[in-house]
Parts: sequence; C-alpha cells; structure tokens
Amino acid sequence: MKTILIATDKPFAAEAVAQMKATAQEKDYTVELFEKYATQADLVNAVAECDAMVIRSDKATKEVIEAAKNLKIIVRAGAGYDNIDLEAAKANGVVAMNTPGQNSNAVAELVFGMMVYQARNGFDGKSGTELRNKNLGIHAYGNVGKYVAMIAKGFGMTVYAFDPFVDESAIKADGVIPVASIEELYQTCQYVSLHIPANEKTKKSINYDLLNKMPMGAVLVNTARKEVIDEDGLLKMMDSRSDFSYLSDIAPDCAHVFAEKYSGRFFFTPKKMGAQTEEANVNAGITAVKQIIAFFENGDETFRVNK
Ligand code: 3PG
Repeated sequence: MKTILIATDKPFAAEAVAQMKATAQEKDYTVELFEKYATQADLVNAVAECDAMVIRSDKATKEVIEAAKNLKIIVRAGAGYDNIDLEAAKANGVVAMNTPGQNSNAVAELVFGMMVYQARNGFDGKSGTELRNKNLGIHAYGNVGKYVAMIAKGFGMTVYAFDPFVDESAIKADGVIPVASIEELYQTCQYVSLHIPANEKTKKSINYDLLNKMPMGAVLVNTARKEVIDEDGLLKMMDSRSDFSYLSDIAPDCAHVFAEKYSGRFFFTPKKMGAQTEEANVNAGITAVKQIIAFFENGDETFRVNK
C-alpha cells in the first residue's frame, strides 16, 4: 500500500482533505496529513516514509527530496512550481507535476476583490472610482488570465492581453485585444494584472521603465509571484508617481517602506490567498491525488514538469 503525504504549511479546506482521502482510499492508497509545520527541518523529517507528496507553495528543496527515500512523485496542487527543485527531483528519480487550471478562478476573483477595494479607497467613506470603461491589461494569457478576462468583461472593462506563447486568434476569440509588446500593454492600460511565472527570465522583469509607461491612475495587480517585481524600480515608481498603486497577493520584501510612506496606495494580503478557496482546494487537491494514482497505476506523466 502506497502512502501519499499531503504536506501543506497553509492547509487545504477540510472538505478538500476529506475528498482527497476518499479518492485515495478508493484505490487503496493511504493518506497522511502534515499541516502548518513550524520549520523547513520539520518538513525534511516528515517525508522519510512517503511514496508520493502533494504540496502547495511548500518548498520541495534538494534536502527534502533527498530525505524522502521512497519518493517517486511530487505534485504541486496548483500552477506555479518554482518552489520545487526540479533538477534535484530528476536526479533522484522523482517525477514533478503541477495541476494547471485547477485553482485559476479563485486567483482571478481575488484580482477583482483587490481592485474594487482599492478603487473604493479601502471603503473609507471617500468617493472612489469604478472599473467600468477602464482598460485592463492581462500580462500572460494562461489559465488565470482567461478567467480575469471573463470577469473583467462583466465589469464593463476593455480587456487587452500580451502573451507571445498564445496565438492572437485565441485571444481575440475571447473578445480580448491582443497587443504586440509588453510596452504597448503597459502604455495602454490603467490596470495591469500580472500572470507570468517566476523563472530566470521573468524575475525582476517588472521594472520602473515598464511601470512608468502606464497612464495616470495606474494600478498594478500582482497575484503571480513577488519575485517578478524589481522592488527598487517599484519603490522609485511609488516615489515619483503619486497616482500609482500596487496591489499584491503577498507582501513584497520592501513592505515596511510601503507602510511608512505610501498609505492608501497599496494592499497586500497577509498570507498568499489567491488559491485559498474551498472550491480551488477541492479541485487542485483531488486532481493531485488522481494524478498520483494514474502515475503509479498506468505510468501517466501527462502533467510532468521536470522531463
Ligand atoms: C499557484 O501557483 O497555484 C498559486 O500561487 C497558489 O499557491 P498556494 O497553493 O500556495 O495558495
């Protein structure tokens, strides 16, 4: 009987855990739960016996992977897998997967929660603004970007997207206007929502020169990763453009500067909350367990990310 360790510092909703256990038990897999651990060393200790792991933003470092002597597969229940040491996994014969699309709607809804909160001045009683008739730029048109576009149209926004990996015709088919360059997206849109992954090419790629192209009343929404922002450039933008606001799902490293100097022009979630809904937890969690079972039973590696 194989053991699946659900190692989540930020726990899944109880309903998701129950459904993950039921899905595993149907096929005679055992599930162990390891939640809200205090240190990375605790995670290293917890993985000793498991055959498979489900994680979220938990750090699957070389140390974790090497400590998991029986580990054959690790599934990141979510989209971004920058938290897995892919090389270490490959070197130790461990397949790494993600579950693309399963938590996308939850992230997209948070984009609008934060935008409305900011447009209404944090509900402080002062007159705010509306999203209707504003331009929204979607930076990377993947699973989350598509949901953002769909919701934005309900708000009456004009939606633009930049994504060199997606065919223009697919973007147009969603009623979204494709643009040819990142610069054009930022020049055109008062609101920009980031959906790029964090990798060697994108880290610190959102810089002052790009942000400063945005029109008056600019708002950058980051539900991607804090690492894609050049924080020196972000602070320069905050200093030089008093019309600019920054909304982010998880605070930047320079959050203390925002707290000191830019009151009313930012919002940061205290914990990463984009994917934290019961629906997203159920979707991503069950999908992760099913992918593990399909891998062991049929050798299915469809969502492998470390080939
Ligand atoms: C993702 O990459 O899927 C999101 O950032 C969600 O991360 P979380 O599972 O840690 O909430």
